[in-house]
Amino acid sequence: MPTILAIESSCDDTSAAVVRDGVVLSNVTAAQAVHVEYGGVVPEFASRAHQRNIVPTVDVALRRAAVAAREVDAVAFTRGPGLIGSLMVGVSFAKAFALARNIPLIEVDHMQAHVLAHFAEDPKPEFPYLCLTVSGGHTQLVVVHAPLEQEIIGRTIDDAAGEAFDKSGKLLGLPYPAGPELDRLARLGTPVLRFAQPDPGDLNFSFSGLKTSVLYTLQKENKRDPAYVSQHLNDICASIQDAIVTTLMQKLIAAAEQTGLSRIALAGGVSANSELRRRLVSEGQARGWNTYVPRIEYCTDNAAMIGITATFKYDLGVFTDQSVAPSARL
Ligand code: KG4
Ligand code: ZN
Repeated sequence: MPTILAIESSCDDTSAAVVRDGVVLSNVTAAQAVHVEYGGVVPEFASRAHQRNIVPTVDVALRRAAVAAREVDAVAFTRGPGLIGSLMVGVSFAKAFALARNIPLIEVDHMQAHVLAHFAEDPKPEFPYLCLTVSGGHTQLVVVHAPLEQEIIGRTIDDAAGEAFDKSGKLLGLPYPAGPELDRLARLGTPVLRFAQPDPGDLNFSFSGLKTSVLYTLQKENKRDPAYVSQHLNDICASIQDAIVTTLMQKLIAAAEQTGLSRIALAGGVSANSELRRRLVSEGQARGWNTYVPRIEYCTDNAAMIGITATFKYDLGVFTDQSVAPSARL
C-alpha cells in the first residue's frame, strides 16, 4: 500500500499531491498570476515562481493529507514534456527528497498522466478506452489499452485546442488565458459566423488556420464598422467556440467508430469547456457511449494525476534512478 508524494511543475502551476494506494488524499496547486499581464506564460518567470512555491506547496499537501514526510514510500515527478526550467525545479526537488529519505523515485510522462486522471475518482473507466486530451499545449486522441500502454491515434499538426481558444480570444482583447472567458461570453451569443478550418483529413487536428480566419474576418468587419467587435462580441465568441468544439467532436466520433470503442474520456484543461461537455454528453447518449469527464481540478495540470500514474508504475516495479534529467520533449 504505497503512499506517494507527487510533484507537477511542467508549465505555470506548482502542484503537489499525496496519493495512498491509488486514493488521492490531497492535491494542492499554486497558480502563477505573473503571466496574465504578459498575455502568456513567460518561462523565466515560471521557473522562479516554482522555486518559491515548491516547498510551501508540498508542505500543505502533506499536512492536508495528514501524512508525515517519513511515511512517504516513493516520490513521483513530471519528467516532461514541458518548459525545461519549470521541469527542473520539480525534478530537483523530487530527487533531493528521495535521496534524503532513501526512497524510490518514479518519473511520469505528463501526457500519460492527463489520460490517467480518470482514476482519481469514480467511476473509473475499464480498459481499453478512448481519451481526447485537450489542453493549452496538446491535442491528442489516445487509445488506452492499459495504464502504461497508450497508443496515440491522432494529434494536432500545429496549434493545440487550448491555444486556438487563447489566440483567438487574444484577438478579441480577452485576458490570458482566454478560454474560460470566451466560454462564458459564448453562452450569451449565437454561432452565426463561419470560420475557415483546414482539415488534415485523418484523425489529426489543425487549428492554426482558425485564428487567421478570425483575424481576417475582424479586420474586414472593423473597416466597415469600427464598433463591430464590441457590438458582436458574444456571437463572435460563440462562433469560435462552435468551430473548435465541432472539430473536436467530429474527430472524436471518427476515432470511436474506427476503434469500435464506446468508453470515451475527456482530459486536459479544455475539458472545462461547457459546450464541449454538453456535446460529449448529448453525443454519448445518442451513441450509447459511457463518458468520463474528471472534475476540473483533475482536468487542468495537477499533481494528483502524477501520483495516480506513479501508483500504476509502483505496482509494476518501474522506478527511476538519481541520474534522471527532465526532458522538454518527452
Ligand atoms: O491543461 P491546462 O490547465 O494546461 C496545459 O497543460 O496547457 O489547460 C489550459 C488550457 C488553456 O488554453 C485554457 O484557455 C483552456 O485550457 N481552458 C478552456 C476553458 N478552461 C480552460 N478553454 C475553453 N473553455 C474553457 N472553459
Ligand atoms: Zn497539461
